[in-house]
Amino acid sequence: MYPKVRKAVIPAAGLGTRVLPASKAMPKEMLPIVDKPAIQYIVEEAVASGITDILIITNRGKSDIENHFDRVPELEERLLAAGRQDVYDEVVGLTRMANILFVRQKETKGLGHAVNCARSFVGNEPFAILFGDDVILGEKPVTAQLCEAYEKYGLGVVGTKEVTPQVAMRGSSLRLERLEGETNVFRCTDLVEKVKREEDLFSNYTILGRCVCPPEIFDILDHTPPGVGNEIQLTDALAVLAKTKGMTAVDFVGKRYDMGNKFGILQATVDVALAHPEVREEFSAYIKQIAATL
Ligand code: UTP
Repeated sequence: MYPKVRKAVIPAAGLGTRVLPASKAMPKEMLPIVDKPAIQYIVEEAVASGITDILIITNRGKSDIENHFDRVPELEERLLAAGRQDVYDEVVGLTRMANILFVRQKETKGLGHAVNCARSFVGNEPFAILFGDDVILGEKPVTAQLCEAYEKYGLGVVGTKEVTPQVAMRGSSLRLERLEGETNVFRCTDLVEKVKREEDLFSNYTILGRCVCPPEIFDILDHTPPGVGNEIQLTDALAVLAKTKGMTAVDFVGKRYDMGNKFGILQATVDVALAHPEVREEFSAYIKQIAATL
């Protein structure tokens, strides 16, 4: 068995241009899904996967994220005085979930550049990366599914799902080989980002919001030139890792919501509301009523 993954990095310093104007003054990672901001679901997933130390990469416009994971004594006193112990437990509990640290990406130079801001936090350990705008819900946390593959094979891991060629062309495309004895874990030997022609896709498997990297990724990132959009792309660094040391890919179980996209936000809201004990009855009656008029 390879070392346990204890640390996670959540890049949340993107500009969120696809969800403007909502993300103009408020980080898109703080957009609520019913009653919790997206980033809280992501931190909860990391914690449920055994992660104890989390570094959130922010920028000058994202201090709401730091505030959300901080204590608010006046509010807490008010809740206690009003006998609202359950809400008190919830707002205090979320500040104690893990050791949460923050660092600023000073210029928005891409996801790879954001991850490279985590070098001194990570040190010489494997670490998980959870994209700050990808919420993935399911019975077993996705990060835990990826960490298991890391602990078994000792190689970097990407979380993947099969998508349509159109979606793979907009994101990444993985070259995969089935691993013996595995049903949903593959060896990943190469990947490309944003191909222009369908015939240039390796497969319809694309990276969706999660990976686990060995610390070697930082030296690779140091030598990764700007790629698509003139940004330092994490996928370019992962491609080097896949071609040299090798990687695995886990076809994970869970439903992914792209919170950087208007439709993804709506899907997440509807699905979470329909399962939420406080609102599900009223909301499902409402949805049925609306659906009948469509
Ligand atoms: P995205 O490309 O989805 O985020 O990056 P974005 O740049 O905010 O999106 P649009 O296209 O402008 O709407 C994936 C993740 O990487 C983070 C984002 O916050 C998101 O969680 N990111 C991206 C950074 O932390 N820094 C960057 O320079 C770019």
